[in-house]
Amino acid sequence: MLKINNNYLKLENNYLFAKISEEKNKYIQKSDVSLIDLSIGDVTLPLVNKASEGIIKANNLLSNINTFVGYPPSSGHEFLKEQIIKNDYLNVKAKISKEEIFISDSSKSDISNILDIFSDKLNVAIQNPVYPVYLDSNIMRGNNILYYSSIDSLIYEIENNDDFIIDIVYICSPNNPTGEVVTKKQLEKLISLALKYQFIIFFDAAYEAFIQENNIPHSIYEIKNAKRVAIEFKSYSKTAGFTPIRLSYTIVPKEIKINKDITVNSLFKRLKDTKYNGPSFLSEYAIYNVYTSSAINELKENINYYTENTKILFDFFKSKHLILDENLCVNSPYVWIKTPNNMSSWDYFYYLLDNFMILGTPGIGFGKNGENHFRFTGFGKREDILNAIDRLK
Ligand code: MLT
Repeated sequence: MLKINNNYLKLENNYLFAKISEEKNKYIQKSDVSLIDLSIGDVTLPLVNKASEGIIKANNLLSNINTFVGYPPSSGHEFLKEQIIKNDYLNVKAKISKEEIFISDSSKSDISNILDIFSDKLNVAIQNPVYPVYLDSNIMRGNNILYYSSIDSLIYEIENNDDFIIDIVYICSPNNPTGEVVTKKQLEKLISLALKYQFIIFFDAAYEAFIQENNIPHSIYEIKNAKRVAIEFKSYSKTAGFTPIRLSYTIVPKEIKINKDITVNSLFKRLKDTKYNGPSFLSEYAIYNVYTSSAINELKENINYYTENTKILFDFFKSKHLILDENLCVNSPYVWIKTPNNMSSWDYFYYLLDNFMILGTPGIGFGKNGENHFRFTGFGKREDILNAIDRLK
């Protein structure tokens, strides 16, 4: 008889952003006032010129019988891997090889699907609050979740709590939604603990482009020995505005072994070869054109625009005394506030929607510790950010 994976019954009915989108559609239908959406972290600026030109160039190549290419390799084309090594890992001491790069459509799918290659009933450490995909994808696998509230508390638990035995730890730096970043010193400590207790670190660097402070690592491979224990996920969604055309990559070092003969790299390749047909040539060529035309600065202008948006929102909520920790917003495209009068985060969601037609993200959607908190995205259009503040004033 057909049976379902019972773990799916342990999930919330809806994925956080699917639920918000449903609520949004209901409100759009019943109100004349234009809704301002500052919920999901989705970019609003158009592609930079060199990325659009890259798509046109790729289209020309695909339209000519002499330059047409069919299926890509499942881990992406070498021409892009070379640029990733040259541009993104230039200042990183560890040497990243092309075979360690897996270009994909999204970090969200890689960070979830990679769990397939490990046994079930793993012990995974997940920050609370954090990007909900880590939690949901581990519930789907039936894994055992151990929560931690900050990087320092994670280190403390690993060192002092005999019950805190983990196989995988997820680090999101800068953290979505809080903006907490992991320092070099904390990463050094975590890597030494990973070597000692034999766990793997999943390092999600989706928001590294928003780091403003000098001493914060943009890649875990800036730290010695990281290649022995860490897998890194990098997405072009926020850094290059690729949410509609999709592209990301994952670094799976060959040094990480499950036992002395089997590398995680070889199993991830096996998974990719079987279940994935590789990234879109158009998307790959778009970012390739950015890298090779030295147009990285154009991307930085977009990052600065979103950073300025975040600062405008931050200053407003600071003036309302709703910012908990000023340091947390420095390296993040999100503003994380406490709700006024300790309202529950879903109550505040409907309060904003009903009274101001403003959509944000309830903190509890990122985990229990997010209750009585709320997240606004700085990825909106400037006029929307300013209008939202006007309405709230
Ligand atoms: C967010 O709003 O947290 C993210 O944009 C969602 C995502 O990247 O999937």
